Amino acid sequence: MQFRAVKGMNDILPGEVERWQRFESTFRRTVELCGYSEVRTPVLESRELFVRSTGETTEIVEKQMFELERSGERLALRPEGTPGSARAFVAGSVHAREPVTRWYYLGPMFRAEQPQRGRYRQFHQAGCELYGDKGPVADAEMIDMLVGLLAELGIDQIDVRINSLGGTESRAKYREALLGHLRPRAAELSDHARRRLEDNPLRILDSKDPRDRAAVEGAPSILDVLEPEDSEHFGRLRSALDALGTPYQLDPGLVRGLDYYNRTLFEFSSTSGSLGTQNALLGGGRYDGMLKSLGGPDLPSIGFGMGIERILLAMPETQPAPAPSVFVAPMGGQAAEAGLRVARELRRAGIRTELDGRGGSLKSLLRRADALHAKLCLVLGESELARGVVQIKDLAAHQQTEVALGELLAHVQATLGREEALH
Ligand code: HAM
Repeated sequence: MQFRAVKGMNDILPGEVERWQRFESTFRRTVELCGYSEVRTPVLESRELFVRSTGETTEIVEKQMFELERSGERLALRPEGTPGSARAFVAGSVHAREPVTRWYYLGPMFRAEQPQRGRYRQFHQAGCELYGDKGPVADAEMIDMLVGLLAELGIDQIDVRINSLGGTESRAKYREALLGHLRPRAAELSDHARRRLEDNPLRILDSKDPRDRAAVEGAPSILDVLEPEDSEHFGRLRSALDALGTPYQLDPGLVRGLDYYNRTLFEFSSTSGSLGTQNALLGGGRYDGMLKSLGGPDLPSIGFGMGIERILLAMPETQPAPAPSVFVAPMGGQAAEAGLRVARELRRAGIRTELDGRGGSLKSLLRRADALHAKLCLVLGESELARGVVQIKDLAAHQQTEVALGELLAHVQATLGREEALH
C-alpha cells in the first residue's frame, strides 16, 4: 500500500528546498534589520482563540479550520499566525518589559480550502507583528520594508493597495451607508452575500462573484465617511509613503477577510500572471483592539502575513542545489573507511563533500561525480592507499594528480581556491 500526502498538503524535497531557504534567509535578514525578533508559537491553539480574534463570521473560522478534540478541549490547527502571537504576547506580559515589541514568525498554517495553484491546505506564512505603536509612521515603515523585501527577492511586478477601515465609529457609519446602498439591491446579490448582508456587509466589497461586483458598483467609499482622526491617520500614512517614494494605490474596496482590522489595511498582489487567480502575495493591517480583547493591555498592533508558496511562484528561478566541491570515491573494502575519514576531514574544513560509499566501478563513480557537477573527484583505490596516496581528478580542468594523504587537505584547498579565483 502506498500512501499519499493529505489533500492540499505538499512535500518540499531537496532541490526545491534551497529556494525556500533563500527566501527565508532574505526574509530574516530584512526584518531583523528593522528590529524584529523571531517568535515560535504552537501550531495547535484553543479553537476559541480564533473564534474571538480571527472572527466568528470569517470564512476561515466558519468553514476552514482543521479542528480536533482532546480531553474535552476543542483545539484547532492555526489558520493564521496573528492570534497565537498575540496570545503569547499577552501570556508573557511582554508589554511590561518594553513599550514597543517587534516579532516575526515563519511556519505552516492550515485552512481547508479547495486546493489550486497558490492555494493549499497546509501553506506557509512569514509574518511580522508590531505591538505598542499606533502609527502611522510605523505603518509606512512596514509597507516600505515589504516593498524593499520583494525587490530584493527579484519580484518586481507587484501591485500595492492600501485602504483605511477607520475606527469603530467610522466603521459603524460606513456600515449604515453601505447597507443603504446594498439593501435595495439585495435581490441581485449572490446567495452568500445576501446571507452576509446584515452581519458583515463590508465583506461583500471583497466578493469576486460578478453579481456582487455589479451590486457594489457606485457604493459609497469608506474614505468619504472616516472620522477626522482616522482620516488624519490615513493622510499621514500616505504622506509618509509619498516622502519615501514607495509606490501604492488607494483601494477603498479593500476590506480583507478577517474581522479584527481597523484603520490601515494593505495587500500586495503579483501582476505577472504566474499565480493565476491566487495572486495575493501578502496582506496585513492594523488590529488595535486584539490584545485587549484577549485579556491583555490596551495596546495598538499592526502586522502582515505573506504566503511563502506564492512568493516562490513569483520569484525568478534561481540556482539549482549547490554542487559539492569534492566527490569522494572509495573503491571498495578498506577504502570505504579511508573515504569516511577523508570526507570528514574535508567537511570539517568547510568543504562541501559528497561521499559515495556504495562501492561501484570507477566508471560509474566518475559518472556520478560528473552528474553532481563536483569540481574534484578523489579516487581512493586499495593500491593507492597502500602507498598512502590519493588520485585527485580535476573534473573541470581534466587533469589528474597524485597527492600524499597528509597533504590532501592543503592540496584540495589550494585547487578550489584557484578555481574560485578564476570564476
Ligand atoms: P491572510 O490575508 O489571510 O492574512 O493571509 C496572508 C497571506 O497568506 C495571503 O496573502 C496569501 O499569500 C497567503 N495565504 C493565505 N491562504 C493561503 C492558502 N490557502 N494557500 C497559500 N497561501 C495562502 C493573514 O493571515 C493575517 N494573519 C495577516 C496579518 C498579520 N494581519 C495582521 N498581522
